[in-house]
Amino acid sequence: MIVTTTDIKGLKKHATGKVRDIYDLGDSLLMIASDRLSAFDVVLPTGIPDKGRVLTQMSLFWFDLTKDLIENHLISADIDDILARIGKAGVENPEDYREMLDGRSMITVKAQPTPIECVVRGYLAGSAWKEYSAMRAAQGNGGPIVLHGVTLPSDMVESQKMPQPVFTPSTKESEGHDINISAERACEIVGKELGNQLEAASLGVYKRASEYAAGRGIIICDTKFEFGLLNCNLILIDEVLTPDSSRFWDAQVYTPGKSQPSFDKQFVRDYLLTLDWDQTYPGPELPEEIVEKTADKYREAYKRITGKSL
Ligand SMILES: Nc1ncnc2c1ncn2[C@@H]1O[C@H](COP(=O)(O)OP(=O)(O)OP(=O)(O)O)[C@@H](O)[C@H]1O
Ligand SMILES: [Mg+2]
Repeated sequence: MIVTTTDIKGLKKHATGKVRDIYDLGDSLLMIASDRLSAFDVVLPTGIPDKGRVLTQMSLFWFDLTKDLIENHLISADIDDILARIGKAGVENPEDYREMLDGRSMITVKAQPTPIECVVRGYLAGSAWKEYSAMRAAQGNGGPIVLHGVTLPSDMVESQKMPQPVFTPSTKESEGHDINISAERACEIVGKELGNQLEAASLGVYKRASEYAAGRGIIICDTKFEFGLLNCNLILIDEVLTPDSSRFWDAQVYTPGKSQPSFDKQFVRDYLLTLDWDQTYPGPELPEEIVEKTADKYREAYKRITGKSL
């Protein structure tokens, strides 16, 4: 079953993201990862089979692997438990939703999200590479490059491994792209104590996960975490270390000095670039072959990381 939209009668929507639909169950949330896929920031009309299940199962895997480092928002991903809970929250016939929810949903605590995106970068890519190369060109003196408070050597190439993983937070913008800020600025926004806690927790989880993934042939170039406060405790929320919140690269074909193919979305991006499409809404339907190849990449990412098949 491919799920591109959800409509659960009797529940209140909490948020609809590009990929996830979130419902409010009072003091908990129901988070559903759909099979929607976005490329160039546009959600495409075609769903990718198993993508939502891969995202949810991968998050669950990482929550388990890092729960000794930091608590997280997971209450339950058991389908019987989920159906019982949505029944209590006002859904008349929870069983009607079993097939749709199974494997792609979790119940989480409702926390108060902290207002910054906690990005960790192990490699120089994306917006950080753009900012770094622009700054180097502007500076032109061969001296170290200080990027939002992080000092980097001036001879780095695109996709190169950082001397060490760095915390490069950004703001959460409701419109348009988030803005990269320094760790110091993040401390001004959330307070010094919480800011330092966010940095330490982000780096700790990234290190644990990237070392694990490296052993399985996957490079986690960078990733974005969200944290929330629950009774004054900091917990990890949202999705974690999925291809949607992270750049995953295949270690076997990693070549510094250029941009790397995306582990999961490359077939889609390559296909879209052959079209005469201006990368604004509405996006085009994807052909069956691209859908199948992309679904296989998600399944492969899951298998490589967890050792299990869906
Ligand atoms: N346990 C939680 N408690 C409260 N809010 C949460 C929790 N987990 C995640 N959230 C919030 O739910 C929202 C998830 O939205 P989602 O990621 O689906 O869409 P988005 O961030 O608006 O857009 P995008 O699709 O670009 O990510 C985020 O605002 C996140 O902060
Ligand atoms: Mg989000």
